[in-house]
Amino acid sequence: MPKETNKTNTNDKLEELEQNREDSTGQFLTTNQGLRVNDDQNSLKAGPRGATLLEDFILREKITHFDHERIPERIVHARGAAAHGYFQVYESQNELTKAGFLQDPSLKTPVFVRFSTVAGSRGSSDLARDVRGFAVKFYTEEGNFDLVGNNMPVFFIQDAIKFPDLIHAVKPEPNNEIPQAASAHDTFWDFISLTPESMHMVMWTMSDRAIPRSYRMMEGFGVHTFRFVNADGKARFVKFHWKPLLGVHSVVWDEAQLISGRDPDFHRRDLWDAIEGALIRSGS
Ligand code: HEM
Repeated sequence: MPKETNKTNTNDKLEELEQNREDSTGQFLTTNQGLRVNDDQNSLKAGPRGATLLEDFILREKITHFDHERIPERIVHARGAAAHGYFQVYESQNELTKAGFLQDPSLKTPVFVRFSTVAGSRGSSDLARDVRGFAVKFYTEEGNFDLVGNNMPVFFIQDAIKFPDLIHAVKPEPNNEIPQAASAHDTFWDFISLTPESMHMVMWTMSDRAIPRSYRMMEGFGVHTFRFVNADGKARFVKFHWKPLLGVHSVVWDEAQLISGRDPDFHRRDLWDAIEGALIRSGS
C-alpha cells in the first residue's frame, strides 16, 4: 500500500477518533443519561467570541458534577482509615448462637473495618487525643452484620439525647473554629463539669488509651448489646470485645504532639504499611 494512502488512512483514523472522542478500546464519554459526548473541552458560545450558552447541558452537567464531588464529612468520626480483610472464629460459638459466620473455624468471612477519631475534621491529625472508633462490617452468607465500637468500654453520656450537646461542646469553638481535634477548651470542660456521668469516660480519654501507638494495638468495645439465639432457641445477651494480637500500646503525650506535627497520617500510614508488608511477605 503506497505510503501516502497509508498516511491518509492513519490521519483519517486519528481524525475520526478525535471527532468521536474514543479511547484505544473504543470506549467513549457519555453524559449521565448515556448521551455520547464528543467534546467536553469547548462550551457552546453565541458566536466565535460570544457569551457561553446556558443551554450547553454538557457544560452544566460537567460543572454541577464537579461542584458536588466533595462528600460532606461525617458529623463525628470524620477522620478515619479503613481496610478490607476477613474474620475467622477461633472455635464454634454454636452454644451461644446459630449465626453461620460463628460456627466453623475454617470459614473466612469478608469484613471491612474502619478506624476513626471522633472530634477532628476529615483533614485533622490521626494522633489527636481522642476516642478511636472501631467499626466492622461482616459480609456473612446470611447478610451483613455491623459491629460498631470504640477503643474505650464506657461513654460520656448515659442518655442519647445529650449526644448533640456533647459533640457541640467538644467541636471547635463556634466563634473562631479553634481548637481542631482537641478537647482542651472551655465549652468541652464546661459540659463535662455539668455532666457527672462523664467522669469515668474522662479518666479513659485523659489516659494513654486516647493516644494509641497504632490502630492495630488497641482494644475494641462494641457499643451494642446483641441478643444471641442458638439452634435450640436459647437466647442470651452478648457484647463484643476486640483484643489486639500485638497487645495494647500507646505513645506518650509529648510524642503524640511531635508525631502529629511531623505526620498527621501516622495511623493510616502504619495500617497501609502493615498491610502492604504482609502482602509482600505472602507473595500476593
Ligand atoms: C448517643 C450516642 C451516639 C450517637 C447519637 C452517635 C452518632 C453517630 C453518628 C451520627 C455517626 C456518623 C455516622 C456517619 O456519618 O457515617 C457516628 C459514627 C460512629 N459512632 Fe457513634 N454515636 C453515639 C455513640 C457512640 C458510641 C457509644 C460508640 C462506641 C462505643 C460510637 C461509635 C461510633 C463509630 C465507631 C462511628 C464511625 C462509624 C464509621 O466508621 O463508619 N458511637 N456516631
